[in-house]
Amino acid sequence: MFALQLLFSLFLSCLVTTARPPRRIPSCQVVQMDVFCSDRSLRSTPLNLPHGIRTLDLSRNQVQNLTQETLAHHTGLHHLNLGSNKIHFIQPGLFRDMTDLKVLDLSKNHLSVFAQSKTSVGPLTAVESLDLSGNGLFTGMTDYFLAESPLLTNVSLNGNSITKIAHNTFSGALSLRKINLHNNVILEIEDGAFDSLDHLTELDLSKNSINCITDFNLYNLKTLNLSKNSLELFRSTVSDNLYELIHLDLSENKMSLLPLLPRKNKLEYLDVSRNQIQSINVTGSIEGQIYFMCTCLAAPPSFSKHHQCFYHLKYLDMSYNSLKSLPQFLFSTMVSLEVLNVSNNCISSFSVSAGLLKNVRIINLSYNSLQTLTFAENALQSLEELYLSGNELTTLDYHTFQRLPNIRLLHLQQNNLRVCTSAVPDQNHPDPSGCVSFSSVSNLEYLYLSENSLQTLPPNTFSDTPLKLLDLSLNPGLDMKQDSLRGLENSLVHLFLRENNITELNTDLASLTSLKYVDLSTNQLTTLPMWNKESSIESLNLQNNNLVSLEYSTVLALERTLKTIYMGSNPLSCCRNLPFLHMVQNSAVVVPDIETVTCVYMEDTEPVNIEKVTQEMCQNLENGSVNIIMIIVVGLVLMITLVLLIKCCHSRRRKRNRSFSA
Ligand SMILES: *[C@@H]1O[C@H](CO)[C@@H](O)[C@H](O)[C@H]1NC(C)=O
Ligand SMILES: *[C@@H]1O[C@H](CO)[C@@H](O)[C@H](O)[C@H]1NC(C)=O
Ligand SMILES: *[C@@H]1O[C@H](CO)[C@@H](O)[C@H](O)[C@H]1NC(C)=O
Ligand SMILES: *[C@@H]1O[C@H](CO)[C@@H](O)[C@H](O)[C@H]1NC(C)=O
Ligand SMILES: *[C@@H]1O[C@H](CO)[C@@H](O)[C@H](O)[C@H]1NC(C)=O
Ligand SMILES: *[C@@H]1O[C@H](CO)[C@@H](O)[C@H](O)[C@H]1NC(C)=O
Ligand SMILES: *[C@@H]1O[C@H](CO)[C@@H](O)[C@H](O)[C@H]1NC(C)=O
Repeated sequence: MFALQLLFSLFLSCLVTTARPPRRIPSCQVVQMDVFCSDRSLRSTPLNLPHGIRTLDLSRNQVQNLTQETLAHHTGLHHLNLGSNKIHFIQPGLFRDMTDLKVLDLSKNHLSVFAQSKTSVGPLTAVESLDLSGNGLFTGMTDYFLAESPLLTNVSLNGNSITKIAHNTFSGALSLRKINLHNNVILEIEDGAFDSLDHLTELDLSKNSINCITDFNLYNLKTLNLSKNSLELFRSTVSDNLYELIHLDLSENKMSLLPLLPRKNKLEYLDVSRNQIQSINVTGSIEGQIYFMCTCLAAPPSFSKHHQCFYHLKYLDMSYNSLKSLPQFLFSTMVSLEVLNVSNNCISSFSVSAGLLKNVRIINLSYNSLQTLTFAENALQSLEELYLSGNELTTLDYHTFQRLPNIRLLHLQQNNLRVCTSAVPDQNHPDPSGCVSFSSVSNLEYLYLSENSLQTLPPNTFSDTPLKLLDLSLNPGLDMKQDSLRGLENSLVHLFLRENNITELNTDLASLTSLKYVDLSTNQLTTLPMWNKESSIESLNLQNNNLVSLEYSTVLALERTLKTIYMGSNPLSCCRNLPFLHMVQNSAVVVPDIETVTCVYMEDTEPVNIEKVTQEMCQNLENGSVNIIMIIVVGLVLMITLVLLIKCCHSRRRKRNRSFSA
């Protein structure tokens, strides 16, 4: 018995000791030769680590003084992460003998304090990637870290306070391929600052205060990011050398002209969005030099002028500028262009003549002031997506969209278009004017026509057009015909008719057998459209209509396929919708706005949430009325009996009286 007690107390104490952490410093995670000690309030490396570790992650700790001791004399490291500590001192020469150290992360420390002591960390013998971001370093301080880093290829100086790149800033790191200077306050780049970096391919100067790049001559650079500066001008040197530049981001600057790019370039991606570009010049003159747009393939090479050629350009973003027009010569060399974004400008007319922009897949012209739009017969043969929303289009050439053999998606919302009947024009009925046709657009699948003040939608509007999605919302008063959607029976999946002030839907939706998603919200509907067993509706939005009761047969037809129904803000009657109620309560149908779905029991009663309604309540209501009738009947019978009784008594008394008088 005593022995058992002892055993039990031993067991207990054992439990208590295992529950307590073994050492005061929580241990690191060791995976083979990689050690992870992140976020453990350490001031230095734990002493019990195995010899020969290759990776040491000491990030998010309390290291202040980086010495051989704080690294516990581990010199064979390949990868050392000291990010987010409080390092303000590094023992000079610490990395000299660490001949395997390739990746060194010193981000988010207090290295500006160390730099103020004007001591150099000494050679970074083998380091290839160095992260010095977020250290409060200012101009000149990088010298103490970069002066002897012969193998350095990647350096990040992101988020410091550097104002100037001096000509010798990177002279001790001639292997650099990638420099990140994002988010500093660079105002000045001295001549030749990057010239000696023959391998430099990626330079990020975004989010600085640079206001002018003249004589850009970094032939080997592939990616240059100058986004979010104050650039007013970007100009490369006049040269016949080939530039390797592929990506140029000049977005969010203050340029009023397109950048002047090297004549021989490989540029594929150009972003000049959110600038102040007002016009595209054939020739521009800056400081006495004349620049030509490259308008022909064989521009005379002897010209000591700029020829803007864009043979390789695939992506051009000029959105959010002040362009009033887009002259076609701009496109003459853009034989590879795939994406053109010129949205949010002030362009009033856009035309593309034959043979131009053959490879463009996406054009974004939304939010301009377009009134005319013309495409030549053979232009834009690859165009798949065309965004034209928020313009002033009223009349378009009748066959505008039939000319685009690959058009798949058309955004035309917020315009003033009128839709033609699909009747094929012949000699007696030439091309109708003042309207645009959507029939026989052979690949069109997505069509957005909301907010166009559309009055009517003639029968067969979309015949021979394989629409999957049709948005006709926000055209209040839109008069749809019985056959308006004929031709879409097997293709249409999404139909949006939101905010159209529709009181009764004449259009036959039951024959649209592929239709799955229907939005009829914010109309004046009093009855549901007819659906039958062939329907495949999965989502139905009926919010904010005038529905009192839902057809039993329609509810039954919908119940098979319906997954989601929105029903809020309708004057539903509780007891006239028991089939619907049954569907909501007993099937898998989800009613996302169930909290706003209310109904009324009788006129003049407060609406109640539909979830609270039960079949019994409606029966009670019926029983209730039966009871009232019963009471009335019983009351009547009683009254009649009473009256009869009284009469009877009366006559007897009279008789007696008579007998008295007699
Ligand atoms: C850092 O540690 C070294 C060696 O332990 C010591 O000599 C030096 O004074 C310390 N420096 C700071 C700034 O604490
Ligand atoms: C340097 O940056 C490039 C591009 O981000 C990356 O692919 C490469 O792995 C980096 N090199 C090192 C040593 O971190
Ligand atoms: C350029 O830098 C900005 C800001 O850091 C960034 O949003 C953008 O994606 C970069 N551009 C490219 C092409 O990488
Ligand atoms: C072309 O650019 C020059 C210089 O910016 C300007 O003075 C001139 O008005 C521009 N021409 C056109 C047609 O916009
Ligand atoms: C311009 O349009 C392209 C393609 O549609 C898109 O990727 C890009 O984000 C747009 N630019 C801006 C600034 O929104
Ligand atoms: C068209 O460009 C605008 C900005 O210019 C952008 O917001 C929109 O997303 C673009 N459309 C597409 C489909 O890329
Ligand atoms: C909606 O239709 C009603 C008649 O049904 C009409 O009185 C009202 O003005 C219409 N509202 C709009 C915005 O067209």
